[in-house]
Order: sequence, then structure tokens, then C-alpha cells
Amino acid sequence: MTRYTALPGFQDVLPEDQPYWEHIRDRARDLAARFGFERIDVPLLEVATLFQRGVGEGTDIVDKEMYAFADRDGALIALRPEFTAGVVRAYIEHGMHVRPQPVKLYTIGPIFRHERPQAGRYRQHTQFNVEILGEADPAADLEVMLLAWHLFDDLGFRDLSFQVNSTGDPKCKPAYIQVLVDYYRQHMDEIDEDCKRRLERAPLRVLDCKAEQCQPVIANAPKITDYLCPECAAHFAQLRQYLDDLDKPYTLNHRLVRGLDYYTRTVFEVWAQGIGAQAAVCGGGRYDGLAEMLGGPPTPGVGFGLGIDRNVLTMKVQGLSVPPLPVPRVMVLHLGEAARRQAVQVTDSLRSAGIDVWLAFGQRGLKSQLREAGKRNISYTVILAEDELKRGMAAVRDMAASSQTDVPLAELEQWLNEHLNQR
Ligand code: HAM
Repeated sequence: MTRYTALPGFQDVLPEDQPYWEHIRDRARDLAARFGFERIDVPLLEVATLFQRGVGEGTDIVDKEMYAFADRDGALIALRPEFTAGVVRAYIEHGMHVRPQPVKLYTIGPIFRHERPQAGRYRQHTQFNVEILGEADPAADLEVMLLAWHLFDDLGFRDLSFQVNSTGDPKCKPAYIQVLVDYYRQHMDEIDEDCKRRLERAPLRVLDCKAEQCQPVIANAPKITDYLCPECAAHFAQLRQYLDDLDKPYTLNHRLVRGLDYYTRTVFEVWAQGIGAQAAVCGGGRYDGLAEMLGGPPTPGVGFGLGIDRNVLTMKVQGLSVPPLPVPRVMVLHLGEAARRQAVQVTDSLRSAGIDVWLAFGQRGLKSQLREAGKRNISYTVILAEDELKRGMAAVRDMAASSQTDVPLAELEQWLNEHLNQR
């Protein structure tokens, strides 16, 4: 028989890891609402051209990593390799430009990229994604960055590094790219083959090349911030002023270019320590031309995606604790046929009264049922046996104290509520 395992790069989130996931999602949802973001959910599947046009042909995400295939009707569709293009598509499709601007949206869900799997890099990962649509003010860039900052503070993260850059707009970016390409052309014998290819396909990506050989060339490369047009320079200066006013530490990283084509002006990433090469726990930026590229009205936008998987890794590496998920603290045990039927009724009425209960299954001796209760960290067991039932009573055992009390069935709910609240 075939022994089935999850596909490479796909992972199960087991019950013991759920408290981390739930805590991060819970804090993210709470903060998003407090910042005035509304929830949107977009489909897992979109027509593939949405990402080809939005994220960009020539990007790794679209050319190498997108799960694109013909469906049964022959339409070329793709599993979403990111959220932003789908959210902007929804904004256009539902005419959200007539709502009060900006529209602030967040979402949480799985993203698919056929990447080479390694620690912290999966083929399915989960993002918390936020977008502010219809606002060009650098205060909107600040706002999404602050949301990330608050979330990382809430989670208790240490030693994070905020990397910030501006990549200009269609007015100034092409001129900078030309300067960069001209500079690289003078250093062709010093760079590796990958960078030579990047220079043709996606020239800005030469700046985040990791190869040792290319580092001296990168170090002396012209910096985009020296080539910004006055409008982009003013926008970036204002954002930096806000960050300084708030005493938010960040690194101005001239090499930060990001792997999606839609970015204009601000780009940023947050890097964590200790989780390996895949250190970006959050990445985002501004994309003022995207809505028009997708056939919508001119709509500036800014947002980020935060990888929950990598945030869970960071929490574990940094030894951060999370609240446990609620589990039943009461277990109903039974001895004999009549007691078993009564146990089902007692369990059901306790649950209806809001008390979380675990029901013992099967026909077993009391010892075996108590042993199970011990393993499940149950606080009180309600023991139903024929003799007590005849008297309308249940024996309630305090598992920690190993003491037992007879409680009338009619008073069981009240008794448990009082004792559970005392703990
Ligand atoms: P991104 O940088 O490609 O941006 O992804 C955002 C975050 O998702 C990354 O910082 C990382 O935490 C996580 N992530 C990405 N790929 C993987 C992977 N293979 N395994 C685990 N985690 C991963 C975007 O997707 C943009 N749409 C973000 C954005 C929103 N920009 C503006 N608005």
C-alpha cells in the first residue's frame, strides 16, 4: 500500500501548534479592526492573467512559482500567489471607489507558490494581508507599517529589523534602471551568470543578489534614492519624518526592491532573527498604478502581507508564550447501561448550560475512565452509577484533591459553575 504523506512544501498544522496560529490570527484581526480595517475574503482561484498583469510577467512569482493550469472548461486559472491583485480586482469589480475613500481592507488565508521548499519557505503559506485603497498620503504608508509594528509588539517579538526604501514611480524609476544597467555593463566580468540574466529580465533584482562575487559591485551601485523625482522624494521624506517623530527605528536599505512589479515609492520588509535564511516575516509597499493596470480607475494603494507560518517559527525560536486554547475541564463517567444513557443526557444538558464537557465513551471500568480523565487534565469528573442515580445523585470527584462529593443531579450545573469559577 502507498504510504501517503503531505506534498513537499505543504504542512499540517497539528493541534499542539494551533494555539500559536489562533493567537496570531486573533491579535491580527483585533488590531486590524481597531485601525479601522474591514474584512474581505477573495477566492483562492483567479484568472491567471490577473497576476500576470498585476504582479508582472518576468517576476519569479508569476514565471516560476505560480500554480497555473487549465480548468475543465479550458480557462487558464491560477491559485493565488499573493493577495493584492485579487483585493484590487474586488475593489474595481464592486465599484468600491464610490465608497468613502480610502477603503481599508484586511484578509487572512492561504497563498500558493511553487518555490524550492526549505525551513520557513513553503509551497502553501498563510498571510495576514492589509491594503489601504484610494489614498496617496504618506500617512497611509505609515499607518500600515504601524499596524505591523503594533502586532509584533503585541506578540512580544524581539530584535526585529524594519527595512525601508523607495523605488520611485513610472516617472523616475525607468531613468534609474537605465543608470543601474549602464553601471552594471561596466562590471560584467565581475558579476555571476544569474545577475547577467537578471539584468535582462528584471534589472532591479540584481540589487538583492546574495552571491559573494557580486557584493562589491552592489555595494558601489547607484542608489535609487539619489534618482527619485521631486514628488517621490517628498513622499519618502514625509514618511521618514513620521517614523522619526515616532522614534521608530528602521534601516534605510537601498538594496530593498521586492519581487513584485507593481510597487511604486515605498517598499518595506520586517526581518526576524534566528529563523534562518527566510527571515522576512512581513513585506509590503505602495502600488499606485495597480488598479489602472487591472482596468480600474486611478487608485493609489499601500499594504503588506505578513506570513503567519514564519511568525509562528519566530515565536517558537524566541520562546514566546501563547494562551492555551479552551478545553473541557469536566468529564462525565458512567458505570452500567442505565448510567450510560443518563450520561448522554447529563452531558447534553451541561453543554446547553454553557459548561464544556468531555463524555467518556465505551463500557469500561471506573479506573480506566479515571485514568483517561487524568491524561486529559480534567478538573472534575461526574461519576454516574446505578445506586447514586436511584437517589437522584452524582458523585463529583475533584481530580487534583482526590476528594469526592455527592451532588444532587438537579444542582449539578450550579455546583460545577461555582467550583469551576473558583479555580
Ligand atoms: P511577499 O513579500 O511576497 O509580498 O509576501 C509577504 C510575506 O509572506 C513575506 O514577508 C513572508 O512572511 C510570507 N511568505 C512569502 N512567501 C512565503 C513562503 N514561500 N513561505 C512562507 N512564507 C512566505 C506579497 O505577497 C505582497 N502581496 C504583500 C503586499 C500587500 N504588498 C502590498 N500589499
